[in-house]
Amino acid sequence: MSEPDTPKIETTVQGTGTSETADSIADRGRTVIESRNLSVHYGDEQALQDVSMKVPRRQVTAIIGPSGCGKSTFLRCINRMNDLVDSAVVEGELLLEGTNVYDDDIDPVALRRQIGMVFQHPNPFPKSIYDNVAYGLRIQGITDKMDERVQTALERAALWDEVKDQLQKSALDLSGGQQQRLCIARAIAVDPDVLLMDEPASALDPIATSKIEDLIEELAEEYTVIIVTHNMQQAARISDKTAVFLTGGNLVEFDDTESIFENPESERVEDYITGKFG
Ligand SMILES: Nc1ncnc2c1ncn2[C@@H]1O[C@H](COP(=O)(O)OP(=O)(O)OP(=O)(O)O)[C@@H](O)[C@H]1O
Ligand SMILES: [Mg+2]
Repeated sequence: MSEPDTPKIETTVQGTGTSETADSIADRGRTVIESRNLSVHYGDEQALQDVSMKVPRRQVTAIIGPSGCGKSTFLRCINRMNDLVDSAVVEGELLLEGTNVYDDDIDPVALRRQIGMVFQHPNPFPKSIYDNVAYGLRIQGITDKMDERVQTALERAALWDEVKDQLQKSALDLSGGQQQRLCIARAIAVDPDVLLMDEPASALDPIATSKIEDLIEELAEEYTVIIVTHNMQQAARISDKTAVFLTGGNLVEFDDTESIFENPESERVEDYITGKFG
């Protein structure tokens, strides 16, 4: 009698309803993005200096640091949004799954489909809720099962229950917190690998902020999330890894979030997180 095949272990990730195999669970934590000696200048001004770090897959990585230390600049290197800034010069490497996104044959538009972005101020298009979520799919020429896709994205963004009866309403009539979740739905509708979030909750009230935080933790079951925040408690609450940038665009420390907040190696980092400066 032959041995039965080893059964595939399947688990259901809470909240997302996603079915995972043992392989994909092992995949969590593997490096998905790596910057190597990444430097950025805007004209004569250096905004990032030799930043090297590895971002783990399907976890939340927080980037913290005082204003002007290069957090947004770093985020914008990852999906080449800095290409849109004339004075920006990027040096070094930014690898996505081992491929430098600055290689000549990389199409930045395709890259931005793989790496979605959510900004500080919710920026829905002046269109219906439905059309906002469907937007990226339509651009990609995806038209089948549109209702289902829109619903799934809104469910994942924890907005479906609030808007399911008013999908044709203008997105601009939603509250700020709802608009931000709509922007998250729009970003994930095209099924990116990575979600970049630049202070996504800083313009929101505490209740909306808490919803976004819960959502980010759920999204990290499936996506790699990199979030810039000025809110230390938020970084401590929701992230697995924390990168601390300090003045001059230097990455001073990058470690497990717990280590950064409980036992930082650098005195400057300790001073920053305990509020002595910044
Ligand atoms: N488009 C730009 N043109 C010129 N200089 C820029 C531009 N964007 C950013 N800079 C400069 O680069 C440095 C880093 O800016 P960046 O926006 O990355 O900082 P940040 O850490 O995100 O700050 P904040 O917390 O205030 O958002 C700053 O000195 C800023 O003035
Ligand atoms: Mg910024």
